[in-house]
Amino acid sequence: MEWITLILCATILIISINILFGKSHPNMPPCIRGWIPWFGAAFEFGKEPLHFIQQARATYGPVFTVEVAGKRLTFLTLNEDFKAFFTSKDVDFEQAVQEPVYRTASISKESFFECHLDCLAIIKSRLTPGNTAILSGPLCEEFDDHLESLGSEGSAQLNELIKSVMYPAVMSNLLGQCNSPKSTLTKQEFLDKFTTYDDGFEYGSQLPDIFLKEWASSKQWLISLLRNMITKAEETLSSENGNKTLLQHLATSISDKLLPNYGVLMLWASLANAIPITFWAVAFILSNPGVYKIAMDQIRDAIQNRDKEKTKVTLDDLRQMPYVKWCIMEAIRLRAPGAITRKVVRPLKIQNYIIPPGDMLLMSPYWAHRNPKYFPDPEDFKPERWEKADLEKNVLLEGFVAFGGGKNQCPGRWYAIMELHMFVALILYKFEFTLLDPVPKPSPLHLVGTQQPDGPCTVRYKHR
Ligand code: HEM
Repeated sequence: MEWITLILCATILIISINILFGKSHPNMPPCIRGWIPWFGAAFEFGKEPLHFIQQARATYGPVFTVEVAGKRLTFLTLNEDFKAFFTSKDVDFEQAVQEPVYRTASISKESFFECHLDCLAIIKSRLTPGNTAILSGPLCEEFDDHLESLGSEGSAQLNELIKSVMYPAVMSNLLGQCNSPKSTLTKQEFLDKFTTYDDGFEYGSQLPDIFLKEWASSKQWLISLLRNMITKAEETLSSENGNKTLLQHLATSISDKLLPNYGVLMLWASLANAIPITFWAVAFILSNPGVYKIAMDQIRDAIQNRDKEKTKVTLDDLRQMPYVKWCIMEAIRLRAPGAITRKVVRPLKIQNYIIPPGDMLLMSPYWAHRNPKYFPDPEDFKPERWEKADLEKNVLLEGFVAFGGGKNQCPGRWYAIMELHMFVALILYKFEFTLLDPVPKPSPLHLVGTQQPDGPCTVRYKHR
């Protein structure tokens, strides 16, 4: 009994101290700290993080801090402040992501700070628009093979169908043909393990492995897979002089024993954002008859009379389908990542506020793309708004930040746009679809990465 009284008194004391003395410094942004010390507003925030951001902005203004599980998360929501987010020397990308990198790929702090810049330089140089063009031919073949394995007709969850084609195709295209799991069983095993890993990634980035046993075992499975793939990649390298895969480029330049772990992160980065966007792009096109008609006319004009079973789509063909590319860009805009992050390493001045070192700084591409100043009728799927961008010259629209910015801007962006354009053109050329469910809403649960569908979306498909 005495113990209970003591604990109660201590709790009341901590809460009172928190309320009385826990006020922000006058120069710091308004702070949402909840009632429970340390947890802060974790429960309210965790329920629907994306919606929480928008409500907090309406109540507290464009810059605000949320205390969540011992961390201070400071959000910048004005476009005018994004430049500081992306380029200020007072904020740091590596320090922001080091802990999640450790949890999701078991990469130690020392290794990450030593190798990250070298890995990034290699990825950037391998995925320039020019090198991406070289990858487009083999990628089309991979897509085509996996699409053919769907058979002449059937029904499936659109999301699962897309994963079953894109996971193995992109993996093989970026990490190497010999590495693609060959037998049906291995391909399915890879799909299952990667899906578990991807689905749990956000929780896995916050919690120790012990709380997520199945997720942690998928992570270890993927690390072992990548270890075998690197061994094979090195063997193939010494016997062949052909084009090197991205994995082979990494293996020849980085000698760190954790290279397989970096490989898993690379694999995740290349699939986790692109696949949900492919789902949305196909679903938006199929559910808008006017959009579908224009897209199909362009696809048929560009690749008419091709072999329906071994269909070859070139970059020249894709250039004949600008409207399909606008659909891709519009899907990326509408379902952009919930938030991206940096760590404040020196006091950062934003408007009249000083944001203290140690704060995590966040901005939300998802909400930035709902600013009507840059995107009129922001909730509408309007591919034609991309007519103003110069996509041929890789110039995107003002206010578009789905790929982040500054020196850590997504190095896979040109590959992603090419891959999605190619996939959507190919799948619509080869198959006729009927949507059996309405297009689902995006799930409100995730902040990391592009938006996931909140419910099923069944389709019937038939080979043309
Ligand atoms: C629609 C698809 C994609 C979207 C929306 C997307 C978005 C992003 C964003 C927002 C970031 C963080 C940027 C920042 O903090 O400023 C990022 C990082 C990254 N992305 Fe992408 N991405 C996509 C596809 C890809 C693909 C296909 C690849 C690889 C082929 C890739 C590789 C990476 C890598 C390696 C990083 C980490 C960069 C670093 O360590 O600094 N992404 N991506």
